[in-house]
Amino acid sequence: MNLSYASVREQFRERFGLVPVLFRAPGRINLIGEHTDYNDGFVMPAAIDREIVFAFALSDDSATVIHAANMNETAAVDLEHIAKDEGGGWINYLLGVLDRLRLRQPGIAPFKCLFFGNIPTGSGLSSSAALECGFAYGLNALNNLGIPAIDLIHIAQWSEHQYAGVRCGIMDQFSSMMGKKDHVFMLDCRTLGYRYFPFILKGYEIVLFDTGVKHALANSEYNTRRGECEEGVRILQKLDPEIRSLRDVSAETVGKYKHLFPGKVFDRVWYVTGEIERVQAAAADLERGDLLAFGKKMNETHRGLSELYEVSCPELDFLVNESLASPDVLGARMMGGGFGGCVIAIIGSSAKRRIEEELYETYKRAFGIELKTYEVAIADGVGKIE
Ligand code: GLA
Repeated sequence: MNLSYASVREQFRERFGLVPVLFRAPGRINLIGEHTDYNDGFVMPAAIDREIVFAFALSDDSATVIHAANMNETAAVDLEHIAKDEGGGWINYLLGVLDRLRLRQPGIAPFKCLFFGNIPTGSGLSSSAALECGFAYGLNALNNLGIPAIDLIHIAQWSEHQYAGVRCGIMDQFSSMMGKKDHVFMLDCRTLGYRYFPFILKGYEIVLFDTGVKHALANSEYNTRRGECEEGVRILQKLDPEIRSLRDVSAETVGKYKHLFPGKVFDRVWYVTGEIERVQAAAADLERGDLLAFGKKMNETHRGLSELYEVSCPELDFLVNESLASPDVLGARMMGGGFGGCVIAIIGSSAKRRIEEELYETYKRAFGIELKTYEVAIADGVGKIE
């Protein structure tokens, strides 16, 4: 889907008769560090060249109206009475942002907003984070609120928790806001300190394979995993009350106390502590320019997510296994929360076409689904469009 800024501007003018200011907010990928963010661990994401464009103007009347151009749906909002819409849908991500913004700065003036995006939804590319972040950023600018980016990130995350019902970590919102062209960044989700790494792949490319499925248990299982990690922390705290999260424990220590964890809790904790260590080792690989070692770590992450953390699904496992059958694929793994969405792979440029075509055929034969492939580039985070 082509995204023309001029056409968004034009649509806005036609609909509202006002001249808008434009902002953009990207989706994200995550190279490594999955299900570590809500455990105070490390992640290594980047913003991508798929985005939502927002057109905003202060109202010339007292009405606040938001139009979702992709769906051709319009919502009127009463700024004095912000509450979750039980009907659900896209408006809740925005209402949650408004709720928090108004708590902090009651003086938000009535406005008109139209947004249009080309981030596939339900594919694990964080279109919802882009929606929250772009909206928060735009309103902040439009009203000269002066709220720092880090607070906007928290406002966006809060909206996801309270209005969308997913207890997500900070990675997606942070990436949409802080991404930097041609760089991945390693984020310490405890301190929120971060460091950019140039990510220019000579002879390789980042390719996303979209399973085209999102299994219904995705959100409930996500929250269950969080609960299991918290249970793991409570058990570890009996050994050492200083432990506040899985970030505070090594995989080695967890291994020693395997017998203390009931049911699946050991596997969950074992995966997370290993993954937190793996991200740090992967950062060292990047520093050495060792893409081969980096790719292997992505593969290990997938194995952990599939076998220990159990957030993969047959479609994701299939695409990872088929990809890795080719020596031109350095690394492949499921990305994001799991139970569907995309596989991220690093593929040799010369073999890319052939692999994409082969996967399309085998995936269709196995699942009857036409595989969608996205070739993505790493882009800047949220910003104003001049
Ligand atoms: C989702 C959440 C993130 C993160 C990932 C898993 O994308 O929104 O906060 O937990 O899953 O790494």
